[in-house]
Parts: sequence; C-alpha cells; structure tokens
Amino acid sequence: MAQRESWATRTGFILAAVGSAVGLGNIWRFPYQVGEYGGAAFLVVYLLLIAFVGFPVMLVEFSIGRYTERNPVGALKQIGKGISSKIGWVFVVAGFVILSYYSVVAGWILQYIVIGLQGNYAASGAATQFGATTGGLPSVLTHAIFMAAVIGIVALGIQDGIELSVKLMVPAIIALLVGLAVYAGTLSGAGDAYAYYLSPDLGAIASNWTEILPAAAAQAFFTLSLGMGVMITYASYLGEDRNLAKDGAIIVGLDTLIAFIAGLVAFPVLFTANLTETTDGPGFIFVSLSEAFSSIPFGGILGAVFFATVAIAALSSAISIMEVVVSYLIDEHGIARVPAVTALGIAIFLVGVPVAYDQSGSLVWLTVYDGLANQILLILGGLLLAIFVGWVQTDLGLEELSKGFRNLGSWGMVWIWTLRIPVIVLLLVVLWYNASNVYE
Ligand code: PHE
Ligand code: NA
Repeated sequence: MAQRESWATRTGFILAAVGSAVGLGNIWRFPYQVGEYGGAAFLVVYLLLIAFVGFPVMLVEFSIGRYTERNPVGALKQIGKGISSKIGWVFVVAGFVILSYYSVVAGWILQYIVIGLQGNYAASGAATQFGATTGGLPSVLTHAIFMAAVIGIVALGIQDGIELSVKLMVPAIIALLVGLAVYAGTLSGAGDAYAYYLSPDLGAIASNWTEILPAAAAQAFFTLSLGMGVMITYASYLGEDRNLAKDGAIIVGLDTLIAFIAGLVAFPVLFTANLTETTDGPGFIFVSLSEAFSSIPFGGILGAVFFATVAIAALSSAISIMEVVVSYLIDEHGIARVPAVTALGIAIFLVGVPVAYDQSGSLVWLTVYDGLANQILLILGGLLLAIFVGWVQTDLGLEELSKGFRNLGSWGMVWIWTLRIPVIVLLLVVLWYNASNVYE
C-alpha cells in the first residue's frame, strides 16, 4: 500500500486549516446571524463560545487526528470502544449535507461576480435579482462549476492540491479583504458605520438568550469547521510533534479577525448607500450589499472584487469538507484518490441539486439543509468528541496536547475539565433545544 500523504511544510497545515475555517461562514452566514439574533448580544455569546467551547473542541480534533493518522471514521474505529468507535459516521453524513449546500451558495457568489463586472447590481429590485439567481438551471450550473473546482483541487492530493492552493488562496483572501476594508474606510458613510459597528448595545443580552445561545453555538462550530472531522483529517497529515494549542489559537484568532474585517467592509458600504433597512436572512449579502454596491463609486468593480474574495474563501473551505469524505474512501477502502474524489463530487453535487433548483422563493431547501447540518450534526459531532476525549480517552488527549510544550503543567487538566462538564452540558442543552425546534 502506498505511503500515506502528509503536509510538506509547517505552514502548510496552518494555512489549510485557516483556509477551511475562513469561508462563507464568516462573510455570508455570520452577518445575518448577528442581525437575526440581536446584534451585540449575539456577538458577545458567540465570542465566549469560540473561546471556551470551539477552541477546546478544536484541540480534541487535532489530538485525535495526529494520534491516529487516519481519516475520522478510521480514527474513531481505532481508538473508540463499543459505540464510540462509530462516531465517525456522523462526520461523513455532515460532510455530504454541508458541502452540497455550501457549493450552491458559492455558485450564487460566482453569479454575483459576473453581475458586478457587468455593472448590473440592481438599484431597486435587488431582491428580485437574487430570486432569479437562486433557482432553476443557472443555479444548478454554477453549483456544478464550483463542485468541479473542488474536485479538481482535491484530486491533486494533499501537497500538490490542497497545500499549494491554500498557499495562494489564504494570503489572497486576507490581502483582498484588507484592501476592501481600506477602500471602504474612504467612503462617505464610513464614520457613521464605524460608530454603529464598534459601539455595540450590550443591553439586549438578557432578552432572549434561549434563542441566542443555540444560534451562536451553531455559528461557532460552523465557522471553525468543527464537529465534522475536518480538523481530525487535516491533523492526520501532520507528522511532527508541533504545539497543537499554538496552531489552534492562530486558526481561531484569524477566523475571528476575518469575520470582523468583513464587517469593516460591509457597514461603510451600507451606510454610504444610506441603506438602513436591510434584508434579513441568507439574502443579506446578496440583496442588501449588492444594492448598496449599485449606488457607491466604483460599486460594480468593488462588488465583483468582494464576491471574488468570498468565492476564494468558499473554495478553500469546500476542499476541506471534501477531503474528509475522500480520506475515508482512501484509508478504509483503498480506493485511489482520483476515482474517490470524482465519485463523491458527483454524489454531493446531486445531493445539492434540490437546494440549487429550489424555486419556492423562500429557500426552503437551504433552510432545511443548513438547519440539519449546523443545528444538529455539527453540535452532535462536537458533543461526541468532547465526551470521547473528556471521559473515555483522556490520556491520549493529554499526551498529544503536551507535545510541543516545554511544560504543559495544569493546563492539560483545565482543558479536560472544560470538556468534561461545561462543554458537554452546554452542547447537550443546545442539541436538545435545536432538535425540538429545528423544523418548526
Ligand atoms: N468553516 C467554514 C466557513 O466558515 C465552513 C465549514 C464548516 C467548513 C464545516 C468545513 C466544515 O465557511
Ligand atoms: Na469560518
């Protein structure tokens, strides 16, 4: 059997993980979640969850991946006992669901690049324009184009495909977004926008935390690519004993920073266009932002650059989801990479077709897929992993975490106890709440 692949460089792994984390979650999903669940209140809960739930669970995934050097299904089979050896299946199902609709939304992003280049963002009727984008054959076609790009990169393998591409994509995302934020800062509405964006109204926090908490938890897992084995898979290609906590902190920090910078682009654009009544929900960046682009200087080009940045970010995330399921077929069934990627790519494309074709006008399929994936599968995956390392394979976790530290000291047990009680209880509550509400 051929030797298993690995990252070529130290930075390759970090860039791949950052590329996975930074994506539609930061730029498409984050802003409308903030808008839907009470602005600043949501933001505070979200940041706490990132630090005290997301970061510890990321370390769980890293330690399992590096220890086993296997795909998530195989990894849990190897170190799990009884029922816990089956956990990996949750990740494969989640991967199928998430990538299928992720690619559809990324396809819409591609359409909005073209619309911008043509100078055609609608000044009025932006919602109608979005409606025409999101259903029928064009949407299926752009979904196919995006999946083809994902297949192409992942087929080239870890070093020549994923690692090489993220070395180009991640710096490009950061440079483009910072450039856009700087330009947005020169717009006439920037001052008012900053005042609004940077001085949150914390008063709202107590109002409906039973809704804020589950939504913020789902967003935290989604944005950090947690709960579906991406970080297990990526860490499984790590040979050396690097400090996992340090890498994790960099990844979490960059993901959060990039979501913040996206706000520094969006708010000045919206304020300059005097757009105070924005569209809620998944249409936010497509409807409100494109309408705003239509009325600011160089808006068409600016919008095209913005959506191109989002498309790159989406691609570097989508390849990580694909790699989870591909690594499973390669490791466990000995299937070669190219046929594995091709077959899975086509299957995932087909799973996404209902979301792409949906002409209901209310994005019902998108809502169902997103709800199932984020509110149930990712939370469930994270919960099972926290139980597993918190209570079942504690020594394995501690051993991996301590590598690269001169002296981990009591931080190891702080991590384990964070997983054991607070993380598990919180995720149980969230899962129970979401399971009883998801299809309301
Ligand atoms: N983290 C990605 C984003 O923010 C989405 C993602 C979720 C990627 C789960 C992989 C796994 O867009
Ligand atoms: Na993200």
